[in-house]
Amino acid sequence: MKIKVIQGPNLNMLGIREQNIYGPMKLEQIHAQMKNFADENQFEIEFFQSNLEGELVDTIQECYGDADGIIINPAAYTHTSIAIRDAIAAVGLPTIEVHISNIYRREEFRQKSMIAPVCASSIVGFGPFGYHLAMIGMTQILNEIRALRAQQAAAQKSAE
Ligand code: DQA
Repeated sequence: MKIKVIQGPNLNMLGIREQNIYGPMKLEQIHAQMKNFADENQFEIEFFQSNLEGELVDTIQECYGDADGIIINPAAYTHTSIAIRDAIAAVGLPTIEVHISNIYRREEFRQKSMIAPVCASSIVGFGPFGYHLAMIGMTQILNEIRALRAQQAAAQKSAE
């Protein structure tokens, strides 16, 4: 099963940007940790980062029929993008939203997520560790899907 990790604008600047909020870790380091976790749990994993809203929408759409779950930090688009929300709803894949900072403790304009209502879960405020928590959560979701598929296959077989 495949997990797609999608990172929004300015997350390529992690390790440089506002370290007091986002910490010193670079995006590549976060992704390396996620890749280790995916390998240990026999998941495929792919990473994508863009500063462009349309590219993020395209990448979410491409997950349809290709990935089994999405972990996304839409960054600033979290608070504005109906297009990203609609794309997540359209593909219908289990999606976990991650925010490094606790958006609910920050400026008022960050306290609204357009994305949260179409996600299975939202993880905020744990720093980069939030991505690891998202991997644990996604493992749980995908294992449930695996078990359900096995059950359905067994039921189908016994009906034949
Ligand atoms: C962020 C929070 C957003 O408000 C902000 O625009 C970001 C990062 C986070 O991970 O905490 O770029 O998504």
